[in-house]
Amino acid sequence: MNQWLAFRAVETNDEKPVVKSSWQLVDDSCLPQIGHEKGEGEVLIKVCYSSVNYKDALSAAGNRGVTRDYPHTPGIDAAGTVVSDASGQFEEGAAVVVFGYDLGMNTCGGYGEYIRVPSAWVLAKPEELSFEDSMRWGTAGFTAALSVEKLLKADIKPSAGKVIVTGATGGVGSVAVALLAKLGFEVVAVTGKESAKEWLLTLGASEVLSRDELLPMAKKPMTRPLYQAGVDTCGGDMIAAVLPQLQYGGALTTCGMVAGADFSASVFPFILRGVDLLGVDSVEIPQTDKLLLLKKVANEWQLPSLADFTKTIGRAELAEVLANVLSGKGQGRYLLDLAQD
Ligand SMILES: NC(=O)c1ccc[n+]([C@@H]2O[C@H](COP(=O)([O-])OP(=O)(O)OC[C@H]3O[C@@H](n4cnc5c(N)ncnc54)[C@H](OP(=O)(O)O)[C@@H]3O)[C@@H](O)[C@H]2O)c1
Repeated sequence: MNQWLAFRAVETNDEKPVVKSSWQLVDDSCLPQIGHEKGEGEVLIKVCYSSVNYKDALSAAGNRGVTRDYPHTPGIDAAGTVVSDASGQFEEGAAVVVFGYDLGMNTCGGYGEYIRVPSAWVLAKPEELSFEDSMRWGTAGFTAALSVEKLLKADIKPSAGKVIVTGATGGVGSVAVALLAKLGFEVVAVTGKESAKEWLLTLGASEVLSRDELLPMAKKPMTRPLYQAGVDTCGGDMIAAVLPQLQYGGALTTCGMVAGADFSASVFPFILRGVDLLGVDSVEIPQTDKLLLLKKVANEWQLPSLADFTKTIGRAELAEVLANVLSGKGQGRYLLDLAQD
């Protein structure tokens, strides 16, 4: 192997982050080597598909909270085949999926035709899950599935009331809406995109609420208990606006911070309604849990509509899609086909 294509992000010094990345030819020296501190670059993988997540947009725009050193190849998701494995765990040609840990953050990620990662990050792709579907789900979809799983463990039931999803047109939000609807829940989708109302109803939402209608609730300590539970993907005031509207014993998951990392809320929903706020992490969860998740989305949680609300893009479109996601204009999921121009 000599040189291959990778989407290289450069640091930006602009006050407002902008995507400045472009496709360049790179060589093996940009990947972690065996014995490298980032976990013994054991498994060399030829990547066929990746996906686009909010964190990828931050990395591609030079955000040092995500990526310390530039130039860098983003891509927190990757699906492909094993070229070689120094650990002996995977055979040449094995179909694998990698997401989370340090991939695409400070280790070259899935926006390059090759990655080299520790074997502890690599998951054997279930046969029932195509390469394409594994990346249509991708980190955003897996995070939606983990959020729904947390709510089910908190005993939410379709018969017990509505579930609200914020950032509903985003990657995590759109999969959460579709999955909850598939499981029989009545879903209220919250969006900042007036034009996406019909799209969200098609996805499975039974009601669509504008962000502007929800946000005033952030100022209230407690209000009418409209929702059994919620999946928040935005953070900030969006969390503060959902908490006061949860029913007795309700639960809200939190995974993101596009609307802010801090929020201010009253303790009343917690101490008078026994409400739970549940954190969701898809990055550091144990490999065994990641494998169980892959099997679940490939089988009982399979989403036939996922291909309909995922746009397949080639290399030429990636920069524009990342810029849209960075500015909150993304809609649904994006599958990156590395073989497509
Ligand atoms: N904890 C984890 O393991 C984990 C994993 C994956 C993602 N995340 C986090 O989850 C969040 C969502 O990720 P994603 O990939 O789904 O991102 P995304 O595709 O960009 O979706 C975010 C959505 O949030 C809404 N939004 C954007 N800016 C907003 C604002 N200022 N106020 C309120 N809503 C806003 C928009 O939807 P509408 O226009 O429909 O409102 C946007 O499409 C990110 O913060 C990401 O880092 C965390």
